[in-house]
Order: sequence, then structure tokens, then C-alpha cells
Amino acid sequence: MNFSSELISRLRDAKVVSVLTGAGVSAESGVPTFRDPGGIWEKFRPEQLANFEAFMSDPDFVWSWYQHRREIMRDVKPNPGHFALAEMESIFPEFNLITQNIDNLHFRAGSKRVTELHGNIERNYCIKCRIFVDEVDVKEKKVLKCAECGGLIRPDVVWFGEMLPRKALVFAEDRAANSDVFLSIGTSAEVYPAAMLPVIAKRSGAYTAEINPHPTSITPELDELLMGKSGEVLAELVSRLKGALK
Ligand code: OAD
Repeated sequence: MNFSSELISRLRDAKVVSVLTGAGVSAESGVPTFRDPGGIWEKFRPEQLANFEAFMSDPDFVWSWYQHRREIMRDVKPNPGHFALAEMESIFPEFNLITQNIDNLHFRAGSKRVTELHGNIERNYCIKCRIFVDEVDVKEKKVLKCAECGGLIRPDVVWFGEMLPRKALVFAEDRAANSDVFLSIGTSAEVYPAAMLPVIAKRSGAYTAEINPHPTSITPELDELLMGKSGEVLAELVSRLKGALK
């Protein structure tokens, strides 16, 4: 890929680089996205599965669906895009990886500074006493009850209508507003407030680029679109950067 000289020079001089990732980053690992053709929201309606009322009206159904997704996610491996992002942590003085993904693949690829906006499917907590329950048998399709208080155990993921974890969101907005370069990678930028982050960065003076095989609704607001798969584009970008920084 031909990277613009503007992007490379901005990255070379950057003190603070932040990225927002979405489901597209894990597509090359085999994790289905939500809104692409054949994606998760084509097969299921979010209100059937990803909200608190659905969980309360049929906890076993919602739990078994998350158990199924957990099985898929445990079986897949991080791809070159995840590894390139992990490498970027050591390239820039400050690198912030902000993700909407719940699949844990950034951590598994070695990233350490990860801000999770939508939770993490590997964690669960009791809706009554809020205690965390991390080790669950993925084969168990009936919802678990809390050993402490008998409350229902739910996955620690943000459902429709729920607030994002406050600390994570405040941090993400602050770093977006203070970035020299901001990359929006593998996200349709349809879900707020996450989708605001690249726009906040742009309006605060960052150089902004998207990495996606397709344009999104925020493409016109940003400086450039690197059209392609994140696994390929990011791996090339990191090797180009390492050359530029020598
Ligand atoms: P979407 O499914 O909405 O968007 C996926 C994006 O990835 C699309 O823009 C695709 O064009 C792009 N894409 C597909 N393959 C790609 C590849 N190999 N490399 C790069 N990009 C690729 O997923 P998100 O934007 O992550 O919320 O969705 C945001 C939120 O909506 C999710 O976090 C989830 C969902 O409902 C919650 O669970 C709270």
C-alpha cells in the first residue's frame, strides 16, 4: 500500500497516537462482525440478546448465546492486525488502544494499554452483589447463580441502553482530544459514544485516518481512508514506520 507522506511524517513526529478498534479488526481471525453482510445483527435482533430486559426474561437463552460466542472467541487466534497494534505500543511515546471489542484478542496479542469501552466477554459478574466470576465452564449453557448471594451471573459486556464504563470513556475522550494522530480501524462508526472519538480527535487537531475495506459515515470528516483489511494494512504500516524511524 502507498501510504501518504503526510500520514508517515505525522506518525514519525507524533508523541501521542490513539486508535479506536471495532469488530473488523477481528474479522481476519474468524470472529463475525455485526453489520457486514452475514454479520451478527443480520441473524439476531440486538434487543433479543444484547439488553438487560432480554436477559431477565430468558436468562438461559441469553447466557447460552454468550457461551457460544465465548467458545468461538477462545478457539480463534489474534491476527497480524492485533500483533501490529501490540507492536505500536513500543514505537510511540504514548500509544492508546481503545477498543469496542469484547473478544480479548488485543490482550492475547500482547497489547497492555487497552481501554475496553464495551466490556470483555471473558469476565462475568453477579447482577445483585456485583462480585466478579471469571472462571466459567463454556459448556454450561444454563445461566449461573452467584455462590455468594444467589443472584444471576451476566457477562461483563455493555448491552444496548446501558452506560459505558465511565472511567474508560472519560479516558478515551481525553486521549482522543490530546492525540497527534488518531486511527479508526475496523469499525462502522455507527455506535455512539465510541463513534465520536475519531471526530473529537479531528476537531481537536489530530491527523485522522480510517483503516477499513469500505468507507463509513465518518469517512468525510477524517483526513484519509486507508482502504483495505486491517491485518494487511497495519502490518505494512508498522514495517514502513520502523523504516522511517531508523
Ligand atoms: P460493525 O460490524 O458495525 O462494523 C465492522 C466494520 O469492520 C465495518 O465497517 C466493515 O467494513 C469493517 N471490516 C470488515 N472486515 C474488515 C477487515 N478485515 N479489516 C478492517 N475492517 C473490516 O462493528 P463495530 O463497528 O465494532 O456493541 O460495531 C460497534 C458495536 O456495535 C460493537 O461493539 C457492538 C455492536 O452492537 C456492543 O456489543 C455494545
